[in-house]
Amino acid sequence: MEIEHLSVHFPINIGTVRAVDDVNWELRQGEVMGLVGESGCGKSTLGFSILRLLRPPGKIVQGRILYKGRDIVRMPEREILELRGKRIAMIFQDPLTSLNPLFRIDQHFIETLLAHEKGLTRKDAYRRAEEMLESLGISPEKLTEYPHQLSGGMRQRIMIGLGLILGPDLLIADEPTTALDVIVEAQFLDLLADLQKRYHLTIILITHNLGNVAQLADRITVMYGGSIAEVGEAGDIFENPLHPYTQGLLASIPNIKLDQPKLKTMPGSPPDLVDPPQGCVFHPRCPHAMEVCRVKKPGLVKRNGRLISCWLYG
Ligand SMILES: Nc1ncnc2c1ncn2[C@@H]1O[C@H](COP(=O)(O)OP(=O)(O)O)[C@@H](O)[C@H]1O
Ligand SMILES: [Mg+2]
Repeated sequence: MEIEHLSVHFPINIGTVRAVDDVNWELRQGEVMGLVGESGCGKSTLGFSILRLLRPPGKIVQGRILYKGRDIVRMPEREILELRGKRIAMIFQDPLTSLNPLFRIDQHFIETLLAHEKGLTRKDAYRRAEEMLESLGISPEKLTEYPHQLSGGMRQRIMIGLGLILGPDLLIADEPTTALDVIVEAQFLDLLADLQKRYHLTIILITHNLGNVAQLADRITVMYGGSIAEVGEAGDIFENPLHPYTQGLLASIPNIKLDQPKLKTMPGSPPDLVDPPQGCVFHPRCPHAMEVCRVKKPGLVKRNGRLISCWLYG
């Protein structure tokens, strides 16, 4: 997938939120891409744009999203409906709001399958649901239960199963473990890694938790203020962050190995995207800000196999 010059706006009463601002981005088939950054940086908006699921008044105002060469931005609604679920699936933070409390788990699977696969019998659909539960490490008996009867971790597994039942090749997971406790979170990430291999998935893992991406991601994209700050191999980013924002993010995570006496925190907070700073959006918080950073927005440049938007790197 290639994203070119994508901008997404939310026109609201006090002005326009520039949630995604001229983003260029590329995903490789079969990779796990971690998408990280503080809250309010535009991560979810970027994820939702890919499925054209922006909440009103969100609007894609410019750019292309090329999926296997076809532009999602300009696709007719009918083709978008085909794409959702069948080719691209998305899972969210809170599975309880996505599962219908009145439906048993098997009904969720059966309805999804029958809606997309013409000619499938209910019996075959049930069988497929059973197989999916097995591959999620859940007893197929749970199919006859209702969402509220399951634990949070199990509900999130069910959600991912529903996301994968139609055989998509891209999975967008938006903060999928935020509602889970740490043990269940670790198990869920293991499962995700396992499913990724088994189904040859490309995954976008959106998270504000750098520990999650360290465990799972092949590459990492760091987003700040609606723009991409840095893209690189996960190992490279953790070992040698180049963008001052990435450096700040990494310095603020607890590291038991380093035995740090005190956590460094980045001063300030992410920008107001209705009235973002001139030039580089990060300059008001950047310890290295120069004159040019206040006036001109840096573009993405290649440096040491990394993409980076920062005037320190030209
Ligand atoms: N439905 C909406 N209406 C207005 N503004 C929104 C809406 N959704 C998101 N935004 C704004 O868009 C910006 C990016 O939000 P979001 O994509 O949710 O960031 P993240 O996922 O990184 O936390 C924020 O300033 C947020 O307030
Ligand atoms: Mg979000």
